[in-house]
Amino acid sequence: MRGTAETELQWVPRAAAIAREAGARLREFFSAGVETEYKGDVDLVTVADRTAEKLIRERLAEAFPEHGVYGEEGTRERMEGEFRWYVDPLDGTTNFAHGFPHFCVSMGLEHRPAQRPVHDSRTSEADGKIVAGVIYDPMRDELYTAERGRGAWLNGKPMHVSRIETLGESLVATGFPSRKRHGSPNIHFYHEFTLRSHGVRRAGSAALDLAYVACGRLEAFWEFNLNPWDTAAGILLVEEGGGRITDFAGGAFQLNSSETLASNGLIHDELIALFKDMFAGRDLSPIPTPQEFAQRRAERAAAAR
Ligand code: IPD
Ligand code: CA
Ligand code: CA
Repeated sequence: MRGTAETELQWVPRAAAIAREAGARLREFFSAGVETEYKGDVDLVTVADRTAEKLIRERLAEAFPEHGVYGEEGTRERMEGEFRWYVDPLDGTTNFAHGFPHFCVSMGLEHRPAQRPVHDSRTSEADGKIVAGVIYDPMRDELYTAERGRGAWLNGKPMHVSRIETLGESLVATGFPSRKRHGSPNIHFYHEFTLRSHGVRRAGSAALDLAYVACGRLEAFWEFNLNPWDTAAGILLVEEGGGRITDFAGGAFQLNSSETLASNGLIHDELIALFKDMFAGRDLSPIPTPQEFAQRRAERAAAAR
């Protein structure tokens, strides 16, 4: 049902107002400066994360009293509900704490058919469907929204993934966990993707990375070991923007999955093939030289004429 106006949506208008309010609080904390605490060895948290989560939890309870809330900073409310919000009150805390102005509020709504078993943690749960997503970047005043089957918007204008067809002409993104980062194999993927594309951005907010795929600023994003509050909103933005989300082997994406692969759809199979070869330890096709890149581009342009 394309052609829906964002304002006619069921959950987005109220959720967007909440995300904007939380984002405005983050902006105030950002300009005032906050103390940083350590959650783990290098995992940071600030008063801004906790204050924004409390605000979102309270506003969601007013706007959607039946809905559950599952937040990064510990909120577990009405977990038996048919609807549940996954909330990252501040995605990009490390950036925030260092004064690097790239972070956001992320809220994704899951619809879980009644009578599913209820657990306090998500580990043994099956996913419901993400039906609404809101991501707000308070420093750029950019609001990304989507509802399932109805489209995706950036500041109220319909948004779409890009039309680039090859990894060689793509700008892609990834991230590295702050927890257990010594065990992450991602540096090897970072290396390969850097040399096979226009570049890999590592900007420090997974939710914004997904939003950027959805609106065509990036062709793809991948990361290991994200949490449901990082991905719930962004995966719907990408799907509704016309892109694709899977694990690294092309299997269905799960909120608890340790693998997130998002793209504009057009380069997805190429990415999956590269992941497959790397996981198998196979010799990869040689990285094209800059001259080979240019020649392939010229051949594609000639074929398209
Ligand atoms: C982090 C960011 C980062 C990603 C990390 C996440 P946080 O979230 O999304 O880009 O690489 O894996 O944990 O801790 O800033 O909410
Ligand atoms: Ca996060
Ligand atoms: Ca966070």
